[in-house]
Amino acid sequence: MEKTEQLCGIIDRLRAREAVSDEDYRRLLLASDPEAAEYLYQAARAVRESYYGKKVYMRGLIEFTNYCRNNCYYCGIRRDNLHAERYRLEESEICACAEEGYALGFRTFVLQGGEDGYYTKETIGQIVAALKERHPDCAVTLSFGEWDYAAYQHWRACGADRYLLRHETADEAHYRRLHPQEMSLAHRKNCLRQLRELGYQVGAGFMVGSPGQTADHLIKDLHYLQQLQPHMVGIGPFIPQKDTPFAKEPGGTLELTLKLLAILRLLLPKALLPATTALGTIHPKGRELGILAGANVVMPNLSPVGVRKKYLLYDHKICTGEESAQCVACLRQRIASIGYELREDRGDSLVETHRELTGR
Ligand code: 5AD
Ligand code: FES
Repeated sequence: MEKTEQLCGIIDRLRAREAVSDEDYRRLLLASDPEAAEYLYQAARAVRESYYGKKVYMRGLIEFTNYCRNNCYYCGIRRDNLHAERYRLEESEICACAEEGYALGFRTFVLQGGEDGYYTKETIGQIVAALKERHPDCAVTLSFGEWDYAAYQHWRACGADRYLLRHETADEAHYRRLHPQEMSLAHRKNCLRQLRELGYQVGAGFMVGSPGQTADHLIKDLHYLQQLQPHMVGIGPFIPQKDTPFAKEPGGTLELTLKLLAILRLLLPKALLPATTALGTIHPKGRELGILAGANVVMPNLSPVGVRKKYLLYDHKICTGEESAQCVACLRQRIASIGYELREDRGDSLVETHRELTGR
């Protein structure tokens, strides 16, 4: 009982934006206390509602290539996975997905893909420009990994509004555990910094329960995110994929993912937080529970049904057989069932961009 009170005290301080020690974070993250967890979700909902009401924004995810030059140990589309059936979408196919999405009410398109050198700075720029020309009222988000400054700058000039690049973990040693030697946390952080400077609305994030992750690593993630002040934070449970080196590792839990969503809502009240597909994969009501823990975005798939089963970052991914329209109808109903409202507007983050802050 006393323990629950202590935990609620920490939650009150987080909510009031008062300093919370690492020891307090550790207690909160490690506690298994349903009463305190409910108190945390309630606080997160209240904070979220004060900024975003009951709105849940939708983003149409177009998974345009599953070729990838990287070899992250957790990821099903890693270079060395010879079982992955590779595909790429051409500009016309991407535009057709967006067209369909527009008719379904989407006003944000997220182009996500592996780091595929087949596409150049120019071809990606052309796709972004084509989408912006056809749908000037829509936001275009890129989620295409690590590229150089000139590429990020060019895509921004072509009209890209947002960029998602999860940092994956803010701890150097843990980064090494998840990625091969040729990748580095410093490089990834540098990309995020550049994207911010270029005026993108930026999304970072990490997997919950990835192999080797400790409470101390998560605390580092929270500190890093507080310093970065991203517009969006994508988090979801790690889910093993059978053809990766982490095939036999345990997955992340629903409870810890929900707890982190709620803590992030308190730390970054204006951020956009998706209730991810991975969360919906580990529990039938995962996305609804995510929203009830402070999330305010859903990202249904707009990829052609024929390729969906090939973009398998992890096993048992949901919505790989459904049509886009089915997912929208399903999500609308799910969100309404918990008293929230699926919105069809762009849903920009309330966090100011670098340009707005510096006037540059
Ligand atoms: N389980 C959960 N999430 C994963 N991702 C990649 N592989 C997995 C997995 N096995 C996440 C990474 C990446 C995002 C696109 O998907 O965090 O940044
Ligand atoms: Fe795809 Fe429910 S969201 S079937």
